[in-house]
Amino acid sequence: MEFVDVVRARRMTRDFLADPLEPALVDELIDLARRAPSAGNAQGWDFVVLEGPDQTARYWAASLPDPTGFPWPGLLRAPVLVVPCADPDAYVRRYAEDDKRARRAAPEDERRSLGDEASAWPVPYWLLDTAMATENLLLAATDAGLGACYFGIFGKESAVRDALGIPEGHQPIGTVALGRRDPDAGANARASARRPRRPLADVVHRGGFRSGPDPA
Ligand SMILES: Cc1cc2nc3c(=O)[nH]c(=O)nc-3n(C[C@H](O)[C@H](O)[C@H](O)COP(=O)(O)O)c2cc1C
Repeated sequence: MEFVDVVRARRMTRDFLADPLEPALVDELIDLARRAPSAGNAQGWDFVVLEGPDQTARYWAASLPDPTGFPWPGLLRAPVLVVPCADPDAYVRRYAEDDKRARRAAPEDERRSLGDEASAWPVPYWLLDTAMATENLLLAATDAGLGACYFGIFGKESAVRDALGIPEGHQPIGTVALGRRDPDAGANARASARRPRRPLADVVHRGGFRSGPDPA
């Protein structure tokens, strides 16, 4: 597919067939995910990959112990789940290296550098970078003709961490379901998905974020 077609075609899929995906294909998708940009090239991301019904059932048992009434049963059929995890320490370590050491959290804050501790970072770049890698994964899946859905873990993070052995300090940022779309699924009924895209003119603020004539 052309790049613009991939971007335009990408929508969250919540109705999957249970057909398995080749592990080599999953590797190709994650290979593209890990080509995302990252601060200082720290690449502080990891991907927990669950393949097949035994492994995905382990995830769902932790994150959705009672699926009664769950509105997207087709999501539970996805043959692959990927849990992208962000690693703040990778950024602190990277920014403690010689070429980054002088970077301050803020110009006026001479005491704290980004290589000291995660709390010195005004923007948690580990989340940003892992999100960028996750978007690559969604686009790569679309390009491969697959369906994909990113969703949050919400209050089940601790149970998911335990079930998947995610080490302390690594932050799961959500989950991506991957698989073939169920061609018999109805239209996406989610209210969120039906919201129109904000018009371009609404989101572009040329020259500054203000509307109306410049008071000066
Ligand atoms: C940060 C974030 C959190 C989201 N959380 C969920 C979620 O928990 N469950 C879900 O079904 N979709 C979730 N979505 C998907 C959005 O609902 C979806 O991206 C949005 O409605 C636009 O639709 P589209 O991605 O199909 O274009 C999330 C998306 C993002 C970026």
